[in-house]
Amino acid sequence: MQIVILDTPEAVANYGADQFVARLQKKPQAVLGLATGSTPIALYRELIRRYQAGDVSFAQARSFNLDEYLGLDGDHPQSYRHFMNAELFSQIDIDLAHTQVPDGAADDPLAACEAYETAIKNAGLIDLQLLGIGRNGHIGFNEPSSSLASRTRVKTLTPDTVEANKRFFKPDEFQPNLAITMGIGTIMEARHILLLATGESKAEAIREAVEGPVAARCPASILQMHPRATLVLDRAAARGLKDVDFYEYIERENQRLLGG
Ligand code: PGA
Repeated sequence: MQIVILDTPEAVANYGADQFVARLQKKPQAVLGLATGSTPIALYRELIRRYQAGDVSFAQARSFNLDEYLGLDGDHPQSYRHFMNAELFSQIDIDLAHTQVPDGAADDPLAACEAYETAIKNAGLIDLQLLGIGRNGHIGFNEPSSSLASRTRVKTLTPDTVEANKRFFKPDEFQPNLAITMGIGTIMEARHILLLATGESKAEAIREAVEGPVAARCPASILQMHPRATLVLDRAAARGLKDVDFYEYIERENQRLLGG
């Protein structure tokens, strides 16, 4: 794992944006794996800014989102499809027909999961997959105890996750406790994985993911097995790590090797 520790959440978003821009400049038709939640918002704003500045185009890109609530259709303001349209897609030049989010309103959710897997394969797999991390170590909606080899499927959310996401729903609004999520096995097939984490509330999950054993109780720990996973952390999210000095030393060496 490449561990990048930066001083501020803004620096984390900028670093993430650099990765997306570099990927798209090299491969304009790249397949992007996208995420929702609070963490990616600053990254998406930075990508929009760079698109407006003419630094990057998404015109040939395709995208797959990690997950969607089961029981919300894409017009629902709390659906992840709605989030993506509002926070990113409507503000860049991506072709909406080339963006995919699991269908939370599917009549047959199991068939929808299988179709999602097939669509990712047919697109040639994901080039760059963005991830956040839950306070419980989840990636996508792969909650603790998820099979580390799982594929896209319906998952029951933990009470902790439902609680963490309550802030997005009105007090009397229906809040799903089920979701369709890419599996951990699906995520692991991405060529490059970019996990962003900011804030002290993520420090424990990051410690387990980076310095704990690979274990289903912390799904993000599987990234230890990925040949190209980059974890970009602000100081608060890195606070629980024992070997910060070593990670910073490696990163300085990496930059030196790259001539940066
Ligand atoms: P957050 O969510 O970015 O809103 O903290 C991350 C996640 O639960 O994966």
